[in-house]
Amino acid sequence: MRSANCITRIGSPSAVLYRFIAMLKMYHARSAAAGSPDFWDENWEMNQLASVLGDPRVCEHNPLFPLFREKLRRDRLFLEGGCGQAQWVKYFGDRGQRSLGIDFAARTIEAVKRFDAALDVRVGNILALPLDDGAVHTYYSGGVVEHFEGGPEPALAEARRVMADDGWFLCSVPDLSLLRGWLARARALGPVRRVERTVEEPAPDGAQFFQYVFSEAEFRARLAAAGFRVERTFSVSMMWGWMEIPGLTALVDGLVALKRRVRRNGAAPRAAASSDVPAPAPAPRPPDLLRRAFVLEDPTIPLVGAPLRFIRERSANMRMYIAQPR
Ligand SMILES: C[S@@+](CC[C@H](N)C(=O)[O-])C[C@H]1O[C@@H](n2cnc3c(N)ncnc32)[C@H](O)[C@@H]1O
Repeated sequence: MRSANCITRIGSPSAVLYRFIAMLKMYHARSAAAGSPDFWDENWEMNQLASVLGDPRVCEHNPLFPLFREKLRRDRLFLEGGCGQAQWVKYFGDRGQRSLGIDFAARTIEAVKRFDAALDVRVGNILALPLDDGAVHTYYSGGVVEHFEGGPEPALAEARRVMADDGWFLCSVPDLSLLRGWLARARALGPVRRVERTVEEPAPDGAQFFQYVFSEAEFRARLAAAGFRVERTFSVSMMWGWMEIPGLTALVDGLVALKRRVRRNGAAPRAAASSDVPAPAPAPRPPDLLRRAFVLEDPTIPLVGAPLRFIRERSANMRMYIAQPR
């Protein structure tokens, strides 16, 4: 250990790879800090709730879906701490799973309740969960604990308290991938600091603390210190990782706009089809392969799966830690 707050072992491969960087600290220019409910309410108000909660594909086409199918036990409690728009709580709750979502963004939780009053979603703080010790079988924390500038420890300790001994803590945090390491070194990530410990400190001018990005060794060590044993990890959200490459978001937005325009033009009036002429056979659907590769991030695709996984492990936005109480 180098200090109480930086617990990457200096000799670990990840630490060597990133020249001993344990974490990045990222800032943003929005007025509300990511630690505040207002920030998240504003964030979720930009999304259409109905398109998230009303479409099961939002969950079924998520690379985490197989993990939830593997770990959830229908008669045991599934908790999402920091559930946001609560799509997982709704998806599994609708299918008979005991499910509870907690989030401190009150306007978002009210909107979710208006959409589906039967859902068990509550305004609350993941640092003081309204649950007995050992009450939770599967606790999903997706992109939450990195937003505490003082460090994730209090959130991890509270998660450990509510976990059943045979339960699963599924926790994802931003990953210090090879790509992010390069982008940080090239100063392409906006305001960012390489840090060795998690402490509250003045932000650069005009910026607010947003999140920590953890090397795998660093976050594994934090989970171990909180009383968890990590079974495995995998990286997730490859496309979001690539979107940090300068200019790529603008390029993708341009391509999407172009595709829309081409589609609109293609939908112009066509000659009436003669009923004698057989309808052309539907074109093969390459998008299925693309969707499997880039949306589902499916490592089992023949031939493509292995290189895809190699690239994903080095460039994805988040890393999922699958852990059990020790
Ligand atoms: C990046 S979002 C993730 C949302 C959701 N887990 C998902 O994967 O779509 C983080 C969420 O955590 C919530 N959050 C952050 N700190 C919290 C706290 N102390 N207590 C409860 N919720 C919190 C925010 O309101 C926000 O909805």
